[in-house]
Amino acid sequence: MKVWDGFVRFFHWALVACLAGLYVSAEQGLMELHFVLGYTTTALLVTRLVWGVFGSDTARLSALLNGPKAVVQALRSSDVNAGHNAAGGYMVLLFFVLVLVQVTTGFMTTDDILTDGPLVQYVPYAWVEWASSWHKQNFDLLLIAIGLHIAAIVFYALRGKKLVPAMVTGRNSQINQKVVIKPSWPAFVIFVAIFALIMFTWGYQPFIALF
Ligand code: HEM
Ligand code: HEM
Repeated sequence: MKVWDGFVRFFHWALVACLAGLYVSAEQGLMELHFVLGYTTTALLVTRLVWGVFGSDTARLSALLNGPKAVVQALRSSDVNAGHNAAGGYMVLLFFVLVLVQVTTGFMTTDDILTDGPLVQYVPYAWVEWASSWHKQNFDLLLIAIGLHIAAIVFYALRGKKLVPAMVTGRNSQINQKVVIKPSWPAFVIFVAIFALIMFTWGYQPFIALF
């Protein structure tokens, strides 16, 4: 049974690749690459949030909010879900919030020497100071969330719930619940449009500097 549409899978693995690249580029001082990957991550996240309103059943943001009873039940049960289970939904929301904070602060972050995010010149300096410090601290929170996420995936795998192949192929043979999986092309069109808009507005200089 198909459980994840193409865009959710693309979003997931592109996000993993971008975050790895953002960490390495920041550590190595490759700020042009950091900016281009930061803009790509912004476009991925905004598209994912839009797709959370119009997309497949398993991509919907509304499916991520569940009551405490459902969360406890999900933590106890060994059933495989079509889509995120009630506990996993909050982990996903946490990721969306953390990545949103990371990119938003990035736009207003300065290293006080050479590199300014594109909004640094337009906002009060107090915001820039605050954002620059949060950009660092929030990344640590993101790392903790990633650690928990991978621990949960390993934990489920040990209990016989194999979730990773479904995030790769979109299909899970352990499921017979029917869910609506939409064609992903509208999401890809939105992604390309948002990416192009951000790159034309802020991204062309760092992009050209890469080559
Ligand atoms: C940078 C590291 C990672 C981040 C930020 C991340 C983030 C996310 C997010 C946001 C989702 C929800 C997808 C959506 O609905 O759009 C998700 C789901 C998922 N991720 Fe990751 N992920 C990371 C690494 C990994 C790795 C390394 C694996 C596998 C080894 C993995 C396996 C999965 C699986 C299987 C799901 C679906 C869970 C379910 O069935 O509910 N993730 N991840
Ligand atoms: C999810 C996306 C992002 C991640 C994971 C990320 C991660 C990081 C990390 C780990 C650092 C190093 C912090 C330190 O010095 O300890 C950094 C620095 C920086 N980031 Fe990002 N970043 C992201 C997005 C952005 C965006 C969109 C921009 C701007 C457009 C940006 C601009 C900067 C700048 C200017 C610095 C230098 C700060 C300094 O060296 O003091 N980042 N980022």
